[in-house]
Amino acid sequence: MVILAIDTSCDETSVAITNGRKILSNVIYSQVLLHKKWGGVVPSIAKRAHEERINFVVESACHPRGGGDPGLLNSIDYIAVTQGPGLAVALEVGIKKAKELAKKYQKKLISVNHLEGHIYSAFVQNSQGNPKSDFKFPYLALIISGGHTEFVIFENHLKYKIIGQTLDDAAGEALDKAAKLLGLGYPGGPVLERLAYEVDNVDNHNFPRPMLRSKDLNFSFSGLKTSFYYFLKKNPNKTSEVKLLASSFQEAVFDTLIKKTEMAIKQTGINRLIIGGGVIANSRLRNLMRALVKKYHGEVLFPTYKYLTGDNAAMIGIVAGYKAGKGLFVKDDDQLDRVPRMSL
Ligand code: KG4
Ligand code: ZN
Repeated sequence: MVILAIDTSCDETSVAITNGRKILSNVIYSQVLLHKKWGGVVPSIAKRAHEERINFVVESACHPRGGGDPGLLNSIDYIAVTQGPGLAVALEVGIKKAKELAKKYQKKLISVNHLEGHIYSAFVQNSQGNPKSDFKFPYLALIISGGHTEFVIFENHLKYKIIGQTLDDAAGEALDKAAKLLGLGYPGGPVLERLAYEVDNVDNHNFPRPMLRSKDLNFSFSGLKTSFYYFLKKNPNKTSEVKLLASSFQEAVFDTLIKKTEMAIKQTGINRLIIGGGVIANSRLRNLMRALVKKYHGEVLFPTYKYLTGDNAAMIGIVAGYKAGKGLFVKDDDQLDRVPRMSL
């Protein structure tokens, strides 16, 4: 079942062609340089950049061997697109293109939740079908991205139960805001990772670990951000210690994620973890998660290739394959609309 999938949920224009769990092609055009100077994603710029790039990205995904090749368009069975959550004006561009392609090539449409994509990114295979590991339900999934921090029980294909989420900022958002306060630019996660690594991930500030006293599995990162803000305000000369501050802040966020994950393992009794979303590109967090599951004799799956941690259409195509298998198509293409606050 060959699927052309589109994701324009935030600041990456991505189109992929997938077959089952295999990626035949996956093109990601990142807008990060366009947003960098504004310190975050600017919706109007995102919309325009998606519109300018979408045709080129579709073309490139369909012709992974170059323009002279007949390409993959003729083998496509269905068209899939991210419906939400994400930036409304950005989602619209992908949905419009998906409808256009579905009409032109007379294909059924499949709408996908972007968060399902981040969960399934742990099962994406390359074109040779590697890695081969199969599903062993149930999983405890943790999505950690710029917009979401969520615990989900992944019960079976397309069956999810949310058991905890952030009440305010997402973990990635907190990292981005801290980096901004330190004058390190956008996106903040990768810069903080690099600076923290240079000081061996030391934590010499012990910033607050929010929500650890409560037994529920929700997160809240805005208090940590505020406390960091006031610390910098009271200690303006401390920015010279930028590496130690970056590292201590990162540790506060990661320690919170690890301790809550430990609570989730204990409460659910599930020791097989999936972690998806941009923040799990971070090697320090991967190592902490690996150590945690070892303690519980479990295993942890990350997106199979590092470039699949961030936003990409391949993960959307893989989910769409399972939806197609169950006959879950869009009933009326004209009625398909973006859902910016879509939940699982
Ligand atoms: O999943 P994603 O690409 O987009 C959303 O759906 O939000 O996640 C983006 C987030 C940003 O907050 C970014 O700072 C963070 O992922 N991120 C990282 C790293 N790379 C990206 N955070 C920590 N360490 C990294 N290496
Ligand atoms: Zn995402």
